[in-house]
Amino acid sequence: MRSKVTIVGAGQTGGAMARELAPKGFADIVLLDVVEGIPQGKALDISQAGPIIGFDSHITGSNDWRDTTGSDIVVITSGKPRLPGMSRDDLVTANTEIVKAVTEQAVKYSPNAIIIVFVNPLDVMCYVVKKVSGFPRERVFGQSGVLDAARFRSFIARELDVSMEDVQAYVLGGHGDDMVPLVRHTTVCGIPISELMPVDRIAVLVERTRKGGGEIVNLLKTGSAYYAPAAATIQMVESVLLDRKRVLPCSVYLEGEFGVSGIFMGVPVKLGARGVEQIIEIKLTDEERDMFERSAESVREVTKVTGL
Ligand code: 2OP
Repeated sequence: MRSKVTIVGAGQTGGAMARELAPKGFADIVLLDVVEGIPQGKALDISQAGPIIGFDSHITGSNDWRDTTGSDIVVITSGKPRLPGMSRDDLVTANTEIVKAVTEQAVKYSPNAIIIVFVNPLDVMCYVVKKVSGFPRERVFGQSGVLDAARFRSFIARELDVSMEDVQAYVLGGHGDDMVPLVRHTTVCGIPISELMPVDRIAVLVERTRKGGGEIVNLLKTGSAYYAPAAATIQMVESVLLDRKRVLPCSVYLEGEFGVSGIFMGVPVKLGARGVEQIIEIKLTDEERDMFERSAESVREVTKVTGL
């Protein structure tokens, strides 16, 4: 029997996620939106790729929360995207209201679900979902680090002309311009990039990663990235539904880990059938810890704006 995944928001991001998830074949999908026609149209379009790609997942487009009943995972994408000149934090007031309303419905129809958040400002929206849902921290987390690390990995792979798959990297901290790419743990098949690339080039790629979302916003002009975010989110969905126990950087509610409490931050997490099964604390250098604390301070300030 297939699992049930609801994707809330049938915009570019939600649509790309449904398209990414459907061919995996292990989940039926409900694509939900308030706008009539869009989720139904996208669901139908994706379903019709089934015979070509070879999948049998059912994809339902809906404007009715009742269709989401009993979901195993609810992915929340609904919220305003940023436009050129905006920071992710500029969205906090508008998106808090949207995310609160969506969370109430998600809890009503799928009280046992795991909720994965992909709405900006990411770490703060995770906090809103946790507060409104009352769910334990194992069942509420956000996608950010998989995307940020993938950006860093892709830049390194292009620069060194090696396969993207062979570059391993971790990006921790908040999903903002002060995120913390862990250069020390970035390798090509175990070889530290410091042995493969000059320090000044690494610094350029770190900076490009930090501003990676903004680079795409400035190019698209009407919204933010969605293909790589969709791939990142579905990797997390897969780790949960197949109990793969992948170790991925996710935004989770910290209760003293990494010296931080009471906010969501990106850290390495083991994701399995129970959601966040373990937070993996790694030792940070003084410099990394300073960056992590600076990032935590920004997240804390914006979290206060929600009033929750
Ligand atoms: C990004 O970094 C949308 O925040 C997302 O592209």
